[in-house]
Amino acid sequence: MAASNRSKGFWHIPMLLEAVILLVISQVFCADNSSFITQERRLYKDLMKNYVKSIRPARNASDNVTVRFGLSILNIADVDLKTHTLSLNVWADEVWNEPQLSWDPNLYGGVKSLQIPAAALWKPDITLYNNFGDTYTQEANAVVLNTGVVYYVPYMRLKSYCSYDLTRFPYDTQECTLLFGSWVYDESMLDIQLNGNSSENYVSLASFREHHEWNVTMASGRRDVIKYPCCAHGFAHLTFTLTMKRLTTYYTYVYVTPCMLLNLLLPLMFLLPPETRQKTTLGIGIFIGYSILLLMLEMTLPSAFSYGLRHWHDFSNDIIGDWCSDDMLLGICT
Ligand SMILES: *[C@@H]1O[C@H](CO)[C@@H](O)[C@H](O)[C@H]1NC(C)=O
Ligand SMILES: *[C@@H]1O[C@H](CO)[C@@H](O)[C@H](O)[C@H]1NC(C)=O
Ligand SMILES: *[C@@H]1O[C@H](CO)[C@@H](O)[C@H](O)[C@H]1NC(C)=O
Ligand SMILES: *[C@@H]1O[C@H](CO)[C@@H](O)[C@H](O)[C@H]1NC(C)=O
Ligand SMILES: *[C@@H]1O[C@H](CO)[C@@H](O)[C@H](O)[C@H]1NC(C)=O
Repeated sequence: MAASNRSKGFWHIPMLLEAVILLVISQVFCADNSSFITQERRLYKDLMKNYVKSIRPARNASDNVTVRFGLSILNIADVDLKTHTLSLNVWADEVWNEPQLSWDPNLYGGVKSLQIPAAALWKPDITLYNNFGDTYTQEANAVVLNTGVVYYVPYMRLKSYCSYDLTRFPYDTQECTLLFGSWVYDESMLDIQLNGNSSENYVSLASFREHHEWNVTMASGRRDVIKYPCCAHGFAHLTFTLTMKRLTTYYTYVYVTPCMLLNLLLPLMFLLPPETRQKTTLGIGIFIGYSILLLMLEMTLPSAFSYGLRHWHDFSNDIIGDWCSDDMLLGICT
């Protein structure tokens, strides 16, 4: 009985010591930093106390929210000539000002910026108007500065409609536009401006990864105000234009060179005497060659029906199609 009492008392002293040492250590190492963490939490709670994320952050009804919007193009995911769509991966740069999200850093231990999940904040409903399929936006954190400036840079996958002009295929240059605007706020409520100070930096290609087939030679932005019959005020729209030039090495090897070789073979047929069997064999060979090339072209390019008969004339003018189909007719005739 006494022995067990003594052993209990013996164990109490180190436990007490341990607690004291832990307390001292925590005071020494964590004092400043734990208060720094609670400053951020306190700030977040204060900012969010009366925050309403469904309503635009304007001071009053006659005040607008000015959003600066820019694009950073990461890569071209797909250029689909058949469905006339362009898929891009981008970062959308959105910057706006919310007076109710400003604070005095001195009252919050010098905290000058706060990362807040964008889902907790109001966001401008800037939409891709020439959308063609699902636009995916990855929810990200927004960075709020103590001045009330909010930076929101979500990753987006865009699929837009783009009318490709294939007249000069495969030596073509395509121009695709991306039209962005607010879905429900007119200009007097949400003023959308281009982000950047010159037409060159409205669209950033700094993070762009080269595409194997397309070289983006130019990217620019433009702001318009469009009036719809529904509404008294116009809507601010941003149009970004991407100019892409096709890198033709592949097409030169696969289409143009074989086509030219077949064209060179064709006159040989006239040189052969009519009674030889070789003449027929060569003729059939050239015919099959042209057919295969045309089949391959058909797989790459939109068919006349999906392309629309309106464009059929342009399409039949396209360079390879011209050479091949005309020479095939000549081959059949001989
Ligand atoms: C706590 O934060 C201060 C700066 O505020 C820093 O100098 C110090 O190293 C930090 N301590 C620990 C344990 O991280
Ligand atoms: C609305 O807010 C703006 C900016 O603070 C101010 O200039 C304007 O006078 C206000 N208008 C009304 C009607 O309160
Ligand atoms: C939006 O507000 C800003 C500043 O208050 C002003 O300069 C701008 O002209 C306004 N935009 C529109 C479209 O009214
Ligand atoms: C445009 O802004 C960038 C940085 O945002 C700056 O480096 C550049 O000098 C500015 N250009 C002009 C013409 O103001
Ligand atoms: C893409 O175009 C730029 C300028 O228009 C040029 O400097 C670059 O070499 C081109 N890239 C390729 C892979 O052709």
